[in-house]
Amino acid sequence: MKVPVLEAIYKRRSIREYTEQKIAIEKLHEIVKAGIWAPSGLNNQPWRFVIIQDPGVKKKLAQQTHYAHIVRDANALIAVYLSKDDMYDAVKDHQSAGACIQNMLLAAEALELGAVWLGQILKNKDEVNNILGLSDNFDLMAVIALGYPLHHNQESRRKEISELLLKRI
Ligand SMILES: Cc1cc2nc3c(=O)[nH]c(=O)nc-3n(C[C@H](O)[C@H](O)[C@H](O)COP(=O)(O)O)c2cc1C
Repeated sequence: MKVPVLEAIYKRRSIREYTEQKIAIEKLHEIVKAGIWAPSGLNNQPWRFVIIQDPGVKKKLAQQTHYAHIVRDANALIAVYLSKDDMYDAVKDHQSAGACIQNMLLAAEALELGAVWLGQILKNKDEVNNILGLSDNFDLMAVIALGYPLHHNQESRRKEISELLLKRI
């Protein structure tokens, strides 16, 4: 039996090279919607999003990370924020942000797009907020780079369950 969610989980890889094909805004909205449908504590939905396709803005954001080439070459970026005014518990709100981002990566996979979660750019999150015209009420969690995959050669590995399972009682 094929289970689409499991297929997406196992097939998804971080994709860092893209074709020049433009992503339709409807697809980007679908990805944000998948993020919004993640669980959150008290259903507080603390996440906020910025969709970026403007080449000038992408160029400025590229200067804020070691992964400049990914940011520049991606057709779209989605910056994922926590709204500080909407948070109620730091740990739980950050966990919610992670669930939201993973939902978005799986949605991208389902839509046959390539995506990668960019975290290194957080070291310059204040500059990113300046570029995007956002106050420090918004705390950057990740930038997701998106595009149509240039290839599907990306490999990854995981530790065996036996290395990770602490106990079976
Ligand atoms: C919190 C977090 C931060 C990450 N930051 C970056 C990043 O800045 N640049 C990058 O190329 N990949 C980044 N990644 C992607 C990881 O490198 C990738 O998920 C990991 O190597 C496993 O590969 P896979 O996603 O293809 O299975 C990040 C992933 C996470 C969860």
